[in-house]
Amino acid sequence: MVLVTGGAGYIGSHTCIALHEAGFDFVVFDNLSNASQESLFRVQKIIDRPISFVQGDIRDKEALRSVFTQYDIDAVIHFAGLKAVGESVQQPLEYYDNNINGTIVLCQVMQEFGCKNMVFSSSATVYGDPHTTPIKEDFPLSATNPYGRTKLFIEEILRDIFVSDTSWNIVLLRYFNPVGAHKSGLIGEDPNGIPNNLMPFIAQTAVKKRDYLSVFGDDYDTVDGTGVRDYIHVVDLAFGHVKALEKISNIKEVLTVNLGTGKGYSVLEMVRAFEKASGKDVPYQIAPRRSGDVAKCFADPSYAFETLGWSAQKGIQEMCEDSWRWQSQNPNGYAKD
Ligand code: NAD
Ligand code: WQD
Repeated sequence: MVLVTGGAGYIGSHTCIALHEAGFDFVVFDNLSNASQESLFRVQKIIDRPISFVQGDIRDKEALRSVFTQYDIDAVIHFAGLKAVGESVQQPLEYYDNNINGTIVLCQVMQEFGCKNMVFSSSATVYGDPHTTPIKEDFPLSATNPYGRTKLFIEEILRDIFVSDTSWNIVLLRYFNPVGAHKSGLIGEDPNGIPNNLMPFIAQTAVKKRDYLSVFGDDYDTVDGTGVRDYIHVVDLAFGHVKALEKISNIKEVLTVNLGTGKGYSVLEMVRAFEKASGKDVPYQIAPRRSGDVAKCFADPSYAFETLGWSAQKGIQEMCEDSWRWQSQNPNGYAKD
C-alpha cells in the first residue's frame, strides 16, 4: 500500500490515477488546506472505484500513526506542502513549519513503522539562478525564497536520514513546471484566488475570468525577451512517480532526478500555443520583471531516462489542449457553480 500525502492536490490527484493504472493500491492523506475533496471524488469517477482517504495533517503524529496502523504502508509519495513563493516570503514560519516540520514528523512515523521508502516532491527551484542550461542534477543548489529553502532543507534532511540508516530508499524528484490536466477534463489545477503561475493565468484569461495576462519582462536574454521554462505535462509527471516506485526497493541511495522535458518555451510561445489549442484570444501586456524570476530554466532530463527509464511523452500543444479542456469545463475549478 502506498501512502500519498497531499494526494488531493494538483499533482497528487493525477498521480492517484497513474498509481491505479499501474496496479498500486494507495491511501490519500491530505488536510485539504489547498485542495477540495471534490478532486478525489472525480478521481474515483475516472478510475471507477472508491479510494481510501484520510483527512489529516502531516504535522499530526497521532493521525499519521493511526494511518500506518490501519494500512500496511510500504512506501510514501510525499506531495503535502505549501507551494506559493510569494506567500512564503510573507509567512516564512508557516512554510518552515508545514513543509519542514511536517516532513520530519512524517519521517519519524515512517521510521517507527519500519517504512523506509520515500518519493519526495522537490523542485527545480533548488537550482536558484542556474549559470547555464540545460540543468543537470549536479548543478550548484541555492534558494531565493523561503519556499525554495524548504525544498533545499528537506533534501538535506532526507540525505542525512539516509547517511544514518542506509536501509532507506529515497527518491528526490525535482519537477520543472507542471501544467496540463487529465484528458477527461475532470481534474486539473485549481488555484485559490489570482493564479501566480503562468498556465492557470493564461487559461483564466482565455475563459475571460481575467482581462489580460501581464507578461513579466520582455528584456531577458531569451528567444523573444520573455522568460523561458520547461513545462511538463502533469500526466507525464505523475507517471514519473510510478517509475520511481517500481524501482524504489532497489535504490539504496538518495536518487536525485530532474523531471522535465528538456525543452524550454518562452511566455509568448506559451501564449501562442494556448491560443492555437483553445481557439481563444489571450490578450497580454508587457509588465516589469517579477522579482526573483530567472531568464531561463530547463532540464537536462537524461538521468531520469537512464535511472528510471522515464521520459516525457507529451508536447506543448497537448499540454495546452488539456489545460483548456479542464478550464473550459470547470471555469470555477472544483467549486460548485
Ligand atoms: P497542491 O497545493 O495542489 O497539493 C499539495 C497538497 O498538500 C494539497 O492538497 C494540500 O491540501 C496538501 N497539504 C498541504 N499541507 C499539508 C499538511 N500539512 N498536511 C496534509 N496535507 C497538506 O500542490 P501541487 O502543485 O500538487 O504540488 C505538490 C508538491 O509538489 C508540493 O510539495 C509542491 O511544493 C511540489 N512542487 C510543485 C510544483 C508546481 O509548480 N505545482 C513544482 C515543483 C514542486
Ligand atoms: C513561468 C514564467 C514568469 C505569471 C514557479 C515556482 C517554482 C515552481 C514552479 C514549485 C516566468 C512568467 C508568470 C504571469 C508571466 N513551483 N509569468 N505572467 O516562476 O518558473 O516557477 O512555479 O516548486 O518554485 O517559482 O513559474 O508559472 O510562475 O512562471 O509572465 O502572470 O511565466 O515570469 O517567466 P516559475 P510561473
